[in-house]
Amino acid sequence: KLSKRVIRMGKSSAIKKVAEHLKNHPEAKVIFMVGAGISTSCGIPDFRSPKTGLYHNLAKLNLPFAEAVFDVDYFDKNPQPFYTLARELYPGNFKPSKFHYLMKLFENNKRLQRIYTQNIDTLEHQALISGSYVIEAHGSFSKNHCIKCSKEYPLEKFKSKLKIDETHSEDSGSTDFDYARCDDCGGLVKPAIVFFGEGLPSRFFDTWEEDQEWFLKEKEKNHLVLIAGTSLTVYPFASLPEEVPPEVRRALINQELVGDFKAFPREEDIIIHGDVDDAAQKLAAELGWLTDLELLAAGG
Ligand code: APR
Repeated sequence: KLSKRVIRMGKSSAIKKVAEHLKNHPEAKVIFMVGAGISTSCGIPDFRSPKTGLYHNLAKLNLPFAEAVFDVDYFDKNPQPFYTLARELYPGNFKPSKFHYLMKLFENNKRLQRIYTQNIDTLEHQALISGSYVIEAHGSFSKNHCIKCSKEYPLEKFKSKLKIDETHSEDSGSTDFDYARCDDCGGLVKPAIVFFGEGLPSRFFDTWEEDQEWFLKEKEKNHLVLIAGTSLTVYPFASLPEEVPPEVRRALINQELVGDFKAFPREEDIIIHGDVDDAAQKLAAELGWLTDLELLAAGG
């Protein structure tokens, strides 16, 4: 029996609280901060949930540790794991999730300020969210460069080596790739996916600075930060939630309690403990956007 003092919010009342906040503050806009958990229902395994296909595949390639797949020195020695990952994840074979379409509805209803994503699957773009709202903190496949002399190459240079159209045996770990190399110095060419130890795109830092000022300039509008589908384990992205000004309300939608929400919970934090698509559906219903969401999700 719950003691009177502890007010536990069930998932649906937490979702209602987000909807109420947006209804009570009609000028409030949302900044989303998202990770792999919003794409798991699209068939793209996340990285750290136990027993995900992607991790299993990469484990077959006997990586010294999971993150080695995004380590430049390891890539220079053995590009195979990253090629395997890139082949699994390459944009174009996946459809956005209900959660991606919910974010599109925030844009359509003029309630969207920004989306900071850690994902490299470009599903925010495939959900037709305008690019100016989307900050790809961990880069994307759209640009390539040589890791030795930094010479830039078009998208096809790397993509053509993935042999995406060729069928590959189930245990794709055994596929032999011939790797994309620089015409000038023979160095390996890699997409501008941010590897551990590499800097994030300057647009990430510049926009976040701008948005932090925006929060304070528009305090009376009661903007909201919605964080979803991320373990908040990779910095500097993971420091965003703690850098949200204290007077700005935060909400977390995640299967597990993570990051600053666990370490330094705030009085006003809203925690929606559960599946992102389920929460998207319920929140859309609360906001009167359910038909629009179904339409978008049906590819309408
Ligand atoms: N609904 C809600 N939460 C989910 C769902 C779902 N359907 N699926 C997964 N999650 C949660 C998991 O419980 C976990 O907390 O999403 C989080 C995913 O965490 P990670 O796998 O660590 O993904 P992410 O946080 O995006 O990883 C950050 O690490 O691997 C590097 O650069 C890579 O961008 C990636 C970064």
